Amino acid sequence: MCGIVGYIGKREAYPILIKGLHRLEYRGYDSAGVAIISKEMRLNVLKAQGKVSDLENAAQGKDTCGSLGIAHTRWATHGIPSQVNAHPHLSQSGEITLVHNGIIENYATLRAQLLSKGYTFKSQTDTEVLVQLIEYIQKKHHINLTTAVRIALNKVIGAYAIVVIDSKEPDLLVVARKSSPLVIGVGEGNNEFFVGSDASPIAEYTKKMIYLKDDEVAELTRGEEVKITTLNNDKVDICIQNVEMDLGQLDKSGYAHFMLKEIFDQPDCITDCMRGRLLLEYKKIVLSAITDYRDRLLSAKRFIIVSCGTSWHAGLIGKQLIEEFCRIPVHVEYASEFRYRNPVIFSNDVVIAISQSGETADTLAAIELAKKHGAMVFGVVNAVGSSIARNTDTGIYTHVGPEIGVASTKAFTGQVTVLTLLASALAKEMNRIDDEYFTSIINELSAIPDKMRLVLQKNDEIEVLSKIFTYAHNFLYLGRGWNYPVALEGALKLKEISYIHAEGYPAAEMKHGPIALVDSEMPVVFIAPHHELYKKIISNMQEVKARNGNIIAIVTEGDTEVKQIAKTVIEIPNTLPCLTPLLTSIPLQLLAYHVAVQKGLNVDQPRNLAKSVTVE
Ligand code: AGP
Ligand code: GLU
Repeated sequence: MCGIVGYIGKREAYPILIKGLHRLEYRGYDSAGVAIISKEMRLNVLKAQGKVSDLENAAQGKDTCGSLGIAHTRWATHGIPSQVNAHPHLSQSGEITLVHNGIIENYATLRAQLLSKGYTFKSQTDTEVLVQLIEYIQKKHHINLTTAVRIALNKVIGAYAIVVIDSKEPDLLVVARKSSPLVIGVGEGNNEFFVGSDASPIAEYTKKMIYLKDDEVAELTRGEEVKITTLNNDKVDICIQNVEMDLGQLDKSGYAHFMLKEIFDQPDCITDCMRGRLLLEYKKIVLSAITDYRDRLLSAKRFIIVSCGTSWHAGLIGKQLIEEFCRIPVHVEYASEFRYRNPVIFSNDVVIAISQSGETADTLAAIELAKKHGAMVFGVVNAVGSSIARNTDTGIYTHVGPEIGVASTKAFTGQVTVLTLLASALAKEMNRIDDEYFTSIINELSAIPDKMRLVLQKNDEIEVLSKIFTYAHNFLYLGRGWNYPVALEGALKLKEISYIHAEGYPAAEMKHGPIALVDSEMPVVFIAPHHELYKKIISNMQEVKARNGNIIAIVTEGDTEVKQIAKTVIEIPNTLPCLTPLLTSIPLQLLAYHVAVQKGLNVDQPRNLAKSVTVE
């Protein structure tokens, strides 16, 4: 979940490490630390609870010189966020130190064994056990750091990305991974190497990247070629890829928060997402994944969508799209449940994994399970080159650019757009969609970015509205059909960043329980654009009104009926019912954003959350 940065070369490591940590801070941010080996082979470790800026303050006036170092921004799994639990963790002798992303599951057993050998522990973390274990093995067998790391990792159960340094070997960074991402950047002439838990802290220095695979250990030695081996010490062929990253997307571009920028970026992102795929002139949708895997996709009897959080909500919309257009059954599963419940998976199923980060541990595990059963795995991923992108048979990138705000916004609309393209193109290949409907989808999809711009013009109106609701302790979000998943997503956005309890429900289900919560204090957001279930949702609205609920409704422009019932309405432009989620989700993103800002909360880095959930 956390961020890792490492550097070995000729430059001063500290500024590179700190800049890298700032780039990664969105991933985890409860504490941060850095360790640097100086020219005199002194190992200096600095740590602070809080943000990277707190670490910088703590480092003022301290020795940070040296051209080899590692750094970390933490998302605690074991032990409270505190200075002592922050990484890097030091071995007993103070010679070896490491940063770790993930969880050492058998840490308690290892810890007990090490305690019996006389090792003591300063922190409550699982990570400290690993560094002590490496030292214990190194000293017992009188071996070098890399061999000790390899032996130690063979004793570890769990997930990790680690970078280890030893002040006795001051020209070496040892890097390893299992189930947690790690990228190596190769600098000029093997004279410098960069390490990151993703490419963002490295991209400004080099395009040449190596994505380490599970159970691999890399040795990065000054002036030498990268050496990669497996945990069994077998040599691995090195594959260097050229990775382009638009670093401009990592800045706020004048917006107060990344989340607001990302909400406003959506019209452009959706244009990027459809570029070269939706060919308006030819009334065609071209997806290379369908061209390359046509027979396999067309012979599928069933689709299973696996994902988490917001990506799971996009999956619920994907289900409706694929079932409606292709007439093939689709199951949508929480990846975390799917992976452990012995699900029925047929070899002719197609499993669609949806993920913004491409690193979500549960989704990755669900993919592995699907593969084991011989199913084809199709990725809908945003982060290019991420683990899920590399572990799927084929797929479609959402291409909405790096998403930094923890609350997912543009990634969601990107996922829904990709799923719409996929469902329509498949239906066309299968001859299950009539030409007129297909053409209207193409025409309307191409108009969506401009319609999103019109929705964004409601920003000021929504900001004013948000002021009324900062008092609320609970919210209900209700929608039907295409917009039931949008209700879930609206509720998730609000609770994530404003800490207001919110529930999303299918509107008609409300009367089976949640209606008991409705009183004059309860804001109830209805997503009620003109579509097949419009009349039905009006009845649900009346039921809430009869109980004095405070109704806010998202409606299609020109609506008159809802205006008679709801206290507040927010209008969106008209579009096809199946495309309404691309528009109705935006006012809900803005509402959550402004309520959180009114409450003075940290919108981009809400408490307890992390952007990339690489632990299960
Ligand atoms: C969204 O706002 C969340 N922060 C979270 O639910 C997220 O969607 C989930 O963790 C899945 O992430 P992924 O898309 O990167 O796999
Ligand atoms: N499990 C480790 C800890 O709690 C690493 C957490 C992380 O990935 O940030 O310190």
